[in-house]
Amino acid sequence: MIAQLIFMLAFGLAVVFFTIQVKKIIRNINLGKDLHRKDQPAKRWAVMAKVALGQSKMVVRPVAGIMHIFVYVGFVIINLEVLEIIIDGIFGTHRIFSFLGGFYSFLIASFEILALLVLVGVFVFLARRLVLGLKRFSGVEMTNWPKSDAIYILIIEVLLMSAFLTMNAADYKLQLLGYGHYVLAGSFPVSQFLVNLLPADASNLVMIERSCWWFHIIGILAFLNYLPISKHFHIILAFPNTWFSNLNPKGQFNNMESVNNEVKAMLDPSFLPPPADTNSKFGAKDVKDLNWVQLMNAYTCTECGRCTSVCPANITGKLLSPRKIMMDTRDRLDEYGKGVAKQGKDFDDGKSLLDNYVSREEIWACTSCNACVEACPIAIDPLSIIMDLRRYAVMEESNVTASLNAMFSNVENNGAPWKYSPADRLNWAKEDS
Ligand code: HEM
Ligand code: SF4
Ligand code: SF4
Repeated sequence: MIAQLIFMLAFGLAVVFFTIQVKKIIRNINLGKDLHRKDQPAKRWAVMAKVALGQSKMVVRPVAGIMHIFVYVGFVIINLEVLEIIIDGIFGTHRIFSFLGGFYSFLIASFEILALLVLVGVFVFLARRLVLGLKRFSGVEMTNWPKSDAIYILIIEVLLMSAFLTMNAADYKLQLLGYGHYVLAGSFPVSQFLVNLLPADASNLVMIERSCWWFHIIGILAFLNYLPISKHFHIILAFPNTWFSNLNPKGQFNNMESVNNEVKAMLDPSFLPPPADTNSKFGAKDVKDLNWVQLMNAYTCTECGRCTSVCPANITGKLLSPRKIMMDTRDRLDEYGKGVAKQGKDFDDGKSLLDNYVSREEIWACTSCNACVEACPIAIDPLSIIMDLRRYAVMEESNVTASLNAMFSNVENNGAPWKYSPADRLNWAKEDS
């Protein structure tokens, strides 16, 4: 009875803390500007099914992609077992679904094989970080926390899977001994090989089985609460993030509504622009000027560095790293969100995403080639943030390099980026030129 109460308390607390943390993230994402992204729902479901569920962009790098599929599918399916653990924990039963007979054996056997595959995947992930030292996991933005975060996640998964298999091995041995309520149930294709490593006496076996059971479930509850502060939150956000992704062709820039309205008003005197939003800016200086999808992108980033590894600016030694843009946006949003929670919407700490987190040098190094967007396996768009920061620098501050300023005045005076008069445009076609 005491065990059941402790279990219910731990479970209840874990769910409450997790809900509080997720609410904070939703609140922060909602600090972004509105953006209508619910058009073409059928296409959106298809993108989500292909990119998130089907992992289509992950397998572009086959080893990482296949290992990730092991971890992803294994983790999701093995967690079905958690349902049984929760029911057993609340009602004090043992392997409540064992009445399913052959089907139960099939399920447990599948969980065990998947647990083994998860372990293989996780060891490969650990090896590429700790042994191979893959270049894309380094960079100025990969400081202590992002590095240790990735390692913690992998270690937690090793511990959870090991506890699961050890629990099954001890259970199976107790079943073979016919001890207490450990009735013959399940099939153990992997953990049967661990049986000989365990002690022979029943009381020690029960202790191991119970400890692993508690470790497994408490570990999962702790992991649940670790997600929102980690890049691992992608396991939830990958789905909405792909659903709400940009369906327009890459390279098609969005028109700014404020500019659109000004042009419409110039061309058509009868056009009545909507009332101006006094807080709105051209482009973005801080996170609140970005839209909510850009902010959700930031919380979804797995820090994998696939974007940075294909970025021509980064490859040629410039300061820009699209992964850093996403991580900076998330860090600033966390900071800004905390401020708003304490001081309300008018919170101002004198800081901003541009300058305090992302430098001018970084944004102007971007060639707007879209390689980062194409490479991201979760449909994140770092370029749209870079463009909004640039729009702010250009349209609000006129703070651009001399060559761009010259180009702007040419467009204004000559209707083209070059310094030639419109009257000379066809000179190139003259016989004597
Ligand atoms: C329950 C579901 C999932 C689990 C348990 C999971 C687990 C993991 C783990 C452990 C890593 C870390 C690898 C490392 O940093 O060394 C990882 C990375 C990653 N995951 Fe997931 N994931 C899940 C769902 C998804 C989904 C749905 C997507 C969408 C495509 C996704 C995309 C990624 C990406 C892009 C990386 C970085 C991969 C790389 O470094 O090459 N994950 N995931
Ligand atoms: S769009 Fe900009 S940030 Fe993205 S890969 Fe190209 S140069 Fe790099
Ligand atoms: S933006 Fe995408 S590709 Fe770049 S680090 Fe984040 S998840 Fe990886």
